[in-house]
Amino acid sequence: MTPYTLAQFSDDVVKPENATEVVAICRRIDMDAALVGWSANIEERVRAGGVYWDLACAVRQVAEGLQPRNYLEIGVRLGSSTAMVAATAPAVDIAAFDLWISPYAGLDNPGPDHVRRQLARIGHRGELRFFDGDSRLTVPRYREENPLVQFDMVTVDGDHSDEGAWSDLTNVAGLVAPGGYLFFDDLTHPYHTLMPIWQRFQTTYGADFECVENLNDHYGTGVARRKE
Ligand SMILES: C[S@@+](CC[C@H](N)C(=O)[O-])C[C@H]1O[C@@H](n2cnc3c(N)ncnc32)[C@H](O)[C@@H]1O
Repeated sequence: MTPYTLAQFSDDVVKPENATEVVAICRRIDMDAALVGWSANIEERVRAGGVYWDLACAVRQVAEGLQPRNYLEIGVRLGSSTAMVAATAPAVDIAAFDLWISPYAGLDNPGPDHVRRQLARIGHRGELRFFDGDSRLTVPRYREENPLVQFDMVTVDGDHSDEGAWSDLTNVAGLVAPGGYLFFDDLTHPYHTLMPIWQRFQTTYGADFECVENLNDHYGTGVARRKE
């Protein structure tokens, strides 16, 4: 892992090259109509000279800056956010947690084989392990079985209920390596109420993490870096 400060991240994540690279990675994976629309919007925003960053842009930028050894993701679906990390740091080891709810919000959710194919296609060569089931159970079980493991990058984008998201955040906070990053998505999503959960995270874990957020693009993204 290369040291990568939150100030560096904040400078880099808004650069048009980052969003452009996100769109380029999107072109290398299978996308459904929802992802096609999302990626076209990013492309349009960059073409218009605007500033844009969301979860995909954040994880891609940190993967470039940090060159993570490992990545834990709760909430994978088609693997687009996973692909951002794997395409940028191809040797990264990935622990992928999902309940594979299908359909998910009206969208296909084909499962691990699909994600495995996506990552193989973009040249991922690290370990890829799936932990299927409710993350409220699978993450604590993982921690019990792997008490010494920490992750350079962790994304929480699974259960979007207040209780489920809070449970995920509290279960992974201790799994983030010093100098590593935690991402939390959909802060402003109109169907969810995750902004107070993100604020609660900052209040509860402020001694251990420094945080930034972007509430302007897509559905809002929170980024936390664990202090050394
Ligand atoms: C918003 S999608 C993830 C999108 C993905 N991170 C991306 O950016 O492409 C949410 C995923 O979380 C999963 N999920 C929902 N509740 C879950 C739970 N309790 N445990 C594990 N996964 C869950 C769903 O099956 C779905 O695949």
